[in-house]
Amino acid sequence: MLAKRLRRVQPARTMEMNERAQALQRQGISIWNLTAGEPDFPTPVPIQEAALQAMRAGHTRYTAPAGIRELRTALAQRETARLGVEIRPSQVIVTSGGKQALYNFFMAFLNPGDEVLIPTPCWVSFYEQVRLADGVPVFVPTSPGHDFFPTVDDLNRYRTVRTRALILNTPHNPTGQVLRPEALQAIVEWSVEREIFLVFDECYGDLTFPSHRHWHPLQLIPEARPWVLSVHTFSKTFSMTGWRVGWAVGPETWIAAMTTVQSHSTSHPTSICQWAALAALQIPPDVVESIRATYERRGRWLYDRLARRPGLRPYMPRGAFYVWVDVQEWLQALETDDVGLALRLLEEAHVATVPGEAFQTSGYLRLSFATSEAVLENALTALIDFADRHGLP
Ligand SMILES: Cc1ncc(COP(=O)(O)O)c(C=O)c1O
Repeated sequence: MLAKRLRRVQPARTMEMNERAQALQRQGISIWNLTAGEPDFPTPVPIQEAALQAMRAGHTRYTAPAGIRELRTALAQRETARLGVEIRPSQVIVTSGGKQALYNFFMAFLNPGDEVLIPTPCWVSFYEQVRLADGVPVFVPTSPGHDFFPTVDDLNRYRTVRTRALILNTPHNPTGQVLRPEALQAIVEWSVEREIFLVFDECYGDLTFPSHRHWHPLQLIPEARPWVLSVHTFSKTFSMTGWRVGWAVGPETWIAAMTTVQSHSTSHPTSICQWAALAALQIPPDVVESIRATYERRGRWLYDRLARRPGLRPYMPRGAFYVWVDVQEWLQALETDDVGLALRLLEEAHVATVPGEAFQTSGYLRLSFATSEAVLENALTALIDFADRHGLP
């Protein structure tokens, strides 16, 4: 009965683990849930107030499909200041989260059989969105030695005449790594020379830890402008996941094409949420800074605790809110794979994690620290008990 397109697509495994955890919780079992891909902080009050104000002011009707002029203008100004190249409002589309910006792009630019290079590990929706748009995801495995980002040699190995786009995500989900400027520059040059569209997902761009600055391609190579679409969101920076507001910046013709797709699907993000997003851009920077600093503290704590265990190899997070852990020694000892380990941790230790397989990279677990210190503390205690019980290194 299903369309062929959908038969190629799986529901997100990140959500699947979360659902299993919630099912156990409904049975009255306390679960230490480290699967969250969203901030645990409430949306800052001035943003909530702006939404109420918008409703009362009657901003409850359809908006322009690419978003309200005020928000597009504010985003264009913000991007012009950040990137050092002029960005016009016509180069900005406001979308229902970063997710819809990506989806609009693939729907607008992929023909059946077009290949999209996706470095792995990777976020779950990249490859499924490409499939939904009748494209072909081509996975490009990366290595820990290059912080799980692709090198130009890696990209050359997987590029074919059908390669249409490359997706690059930094700060990175699931590894928490941040792409260094020299590496980014080499990749941008590579894409531009080959006329490959660069889809630059910087949804965690405001959440990096000191000495790991986040760079945008145009800050390094302004001439790359005709080839780059950057995707950003209010979800992570401002704890606004449920509000569903993101945006993309790119060449005017790309934004126009993406707006056509959007105009026939969701029309536009909720009017009220767009006004709230405008207020988010105006909240004092110290609000976001204090949230960022909290993530940093938690990330360091989690990394340090995991690193004490000789059989685990965590990677120090440099941005976002995830610790990526190589668990291969534990897998060997338990004679299982990462999905098996995640299930056993959930059922025996009541700790919920996401197996690396969900990100196309077996042998790892992703632990989110977008949760309270108390949950992290309990989760780690349960994890260590589990390891001791099974004699794991
Ligand atoms: C790498 C990455 N890109 C994009 C998104 C989309 O987020 P949203 O649609 O809430 O903006 C996420 C969410 O988890 C993500 O991890």
